[in-house]
Amino acid sequence: MSNLDSQTTINNLASEYCQKGNPTGWFEEIYSQANQNPANIPWVNLSPNPYLTKWLSQYSGMTSNALVVGCGLGDDAEILQQTGFNVTAFDVSTTAINWCKKRFPNSEVNYLTADLFNLPSAWQNQFNLVWECRTIQALPLDVREKVIQAISSMVKPLGTLLVVTHSRDNEVTSPIGPPWPLNDLELNLFSKYGLTENKRTLSYSNKGTEILNLKYLKN
Ligand SMILES: C[S@@+](CC[C@H](N)C(=O)[O-])C[C@H]1O[C@@H](n2cnc3c(N)ncnc32)[C@H](O)[C@@H]1O
Repeated sequence: MSNLDSQTTINNLASEYCQKGNPTGWFEEIYSQANQNPANIPWVNLSPNPYLTKWLSQYSGMTSNALVVGCGLGDDAEILQQTGFNVTAFDVSTTAINWCKKRFPNSEVNYLTADLFNLPSAWQNQFNLVWECRTIQALPLDVREKVIQAISSMVKPLGTLLVVTHSRDNEVTSPIGPPWPLNDLELNLFSKYGLTENKRTLSYSNKGTEILNLKYLKN
């Protein structure tokens, strides 16, 4: 299947699930239909995100606990754990979580199936570092504030949240996705939930599209 075909398939599948009021159901289908072949999952790189790698190489604080949102196949969770963080990593897809455990059988990461829309209350305000890479943009606009609120609520006071996302102009009100890139109006919602933007840098995907790398601190 060409990239174009695979994008159309994903857009159709996501749209079907979103219309049924289940914006997260299609992820399990993608992972389970991949038959353990990562090449069948368009967002999988099998390597840690470069922004996270760079951030960790410059990090001089204490290693503490970290939460990985929508961890996919686990590469970001593993590098955090190797750097010394005590890592919990979750994904709504049980197939993805089992795949992480199979890829990293000796890992100390606590891999769990969990849904951002229904997280354990014990996680509230618990994590010194929350890593969110490309999950918000994978969910439609009508749940955006709910997702941002859920992610924000897990950061400990004075803790750090790192976000990686594609961006769109504020004027684009109905982007076609997934992914549905974020605009500044949406990113400003983090401040509503107690986080202050501390740093933003730009990078580029291998297709040349702009990627925003954001650091927030919890008040
Ligand atoms: C585009 S992928 C990104 C995966 C990984 N973060 C990365 O950058 O490679 C989005 C991930 O978020 C997960 N996800 C989507 N909705 C979720 C939810 N409600 N709760 C937890 N995980 C979710 C998907 O299963 C998928 O693994």
